[in-house]
Amino acid sequence: MDPSKALEVLSEFGPDGLSVSELIDSRTNGGLTYNDFLVLPGFIDFSADGVSLETKVSKNITLKTPFVSSPMDTVTESEMAIALALMGGIGIIHNNCTSEAQAAMVKKVKLFENGFIADPIVLSADHTIKDVLEIKRRLGFGGFPITDNGKIGGKLIGIVSMRDILFNKNYDTKLREVMSTDLVTANSGVSLSEANSILKKSKKGKLPIVDHDFNLVSLLSLSDLMKNLDYPLASKNPVTKQLLVGAAIGTRMADYDRLAKLVEVGVDLIILDSSQGNSVYQIEMIKHIKSTYGDKVDVVAGNVVCREQAANLIMAGADGLRIGMGSGSICITQEVMAVGRPQGTAVHQVSKYARMFGVPTIADGGVGNIGHIAKALCLGASTVMMGGLLAGTTETPGDYFYLEGKRMKKYRGMGSLDAMNQSEKTSTDDSGSQARYFSESDKIKVAQGVTGSVSDKGSVKSFIGYLTTGLQHSLQDMGIKSVSELYPAVESGKVRFEQRSPSAQLEGGVHGLNSYEKKLYSTA
Ligand code: IMP
Repeated sequence: MDPSKALEVLSEFGPDGLSVSELIDSRTNGGLTYNDFLVLPGFIDFSADGVSLETKVSKNITLKTPFVSSPMDTVTESEMAIALALMGGIGIIHNNCTSEAQAAMVKKVKLFENGFIADPIVLSADHTIKDVLEIKRRLGFGGFPITDNGKIGGKLIGIVSMRDILFNKNYDTKLREVMSTDLVTANSGVSLSEANSILKKSKKGKLPIVDHDFNLVSLLSLSDLMKNLDYPLASKNPVTKQLLVGAAIGTRMADYDRLAKLVEVGVDLIILDSSQGNSVYQIEMIKHIKSTYGDKVDVVAGNVVCREQAANLIMAGADGLRIGMGSGSICITQEVMAVGRPQGTAVHQVSKYARMFGVPTIADGGVGNIGHIAKALCLGASTVMMGGLLAGTTETPGDYFYLEGKRMKKYRGMGSLDAMNQSEKTSTDDSGSQARYFSESDKIKVAQGVTGSVSDKGSVKSFIGYLTTGLQHSLQDMGIKSVSELYPAVESGKVRFEQRSPSAQLEGGVHGLNSYEKKLYSTA
């Protein structure tokens, strides 16, 4: 046959593979997991690095990458939230701690990166080296302006940096003895770019901004300047330039107070943390958040796995939904509770419905590789939430230890006995993690998660870089230029699927080798 007729003849066959509804329908008797299907390749006429991963995590919050970290006490505290926001995603700070500790972690993220730091930590000449070291330990940075009254607005008299105190072991030494008084400053009213060039020329770490009486107005930091250059995708508030951060809460009485504390320190996204979100408690909490703080925070409700659950939460005003029940890598909910749903089916059924109301969804749990992320987005999710995939990175809480010669970190379910017992110890109120899985009237704690360990993965910044590049290549293979175009292309039938039999799954993995080493990425 004439090769120029190839396209014409193709149309006689009808589209190859399955549409998304055929894929879902084909599994009504078993449910679909990410491993049960593949996406068929499309046509490439663009480069992978041009693929946009911009997406919404909730109605009013847009991210440059679709990555969200789980609110778990072995995954997300300030360090993870900062790293993820720098890489274009968002971290959700866990609530297995007192409300004060959780608010302090949110604050640390908000303080991390600023244009002009309007509310810097300021010390007086009577503070000591010990005070500086203590603040450095708590907040992670170590250069402070010194004013006559120890407050912003006071007259600037010096600046102390780690270099000034490094070799002084007398921790009671007053800062007046060690501070630098040879100061480079800029006058208030200076533009950010002018201030940045003064800072660069000065070769100092900090640039205090002062008024005409030499009173301290704000501060500019060199490390922020470097970070601004290094992280073009960073998730930031466009006005304050602060990083975006989320926090988990429950729905008990004490959570209303926890919520107020989190809003006060500037949290952007609240996640109602429950394994079964379809409850009168969530509906009440959503309404409270929307009526009290609707202009300040978005609220994501859940978890849900079916449309009926989603309907109640959407009607109550949820800005996003979190999907997943029993798919988490540390989860035994399906085994113990007999409830849940295979994650692929759950993500599609809820996302397709939620999209009709403009409510973005987060596919939560069971994400073990880049392919799973791509498939979750194909099935309609706007973002993915990851626990196990990020566990073991440097930025997760906890120390490394060695197990059978391998460097490990602990990773545990928030419904594990280990986490629930910790919650009892550290939460002064009743709003910690055990509220997710355990009612106060219960006499016995029934575990819904396990405790385990995961290998050292290095810095999450490199790891998210790997996920970002890998996901861009995945979309390129599908012939799709952006996350926002993906689901419409899936719904229209342009993106096609194939089921994956057990032998197809074996074929798609590494096979037939005596031994091999699986290295996932290397940096240039
Ligand atoms: P992973 O990414 O597969 O490890 O799953 C993480 C997700 O599992 C979290 O975001 C939670 O939704 C869920 N999860 C966390 N702790 C537990 C638990 O103890 N039991 C059941 N699910 C959990």
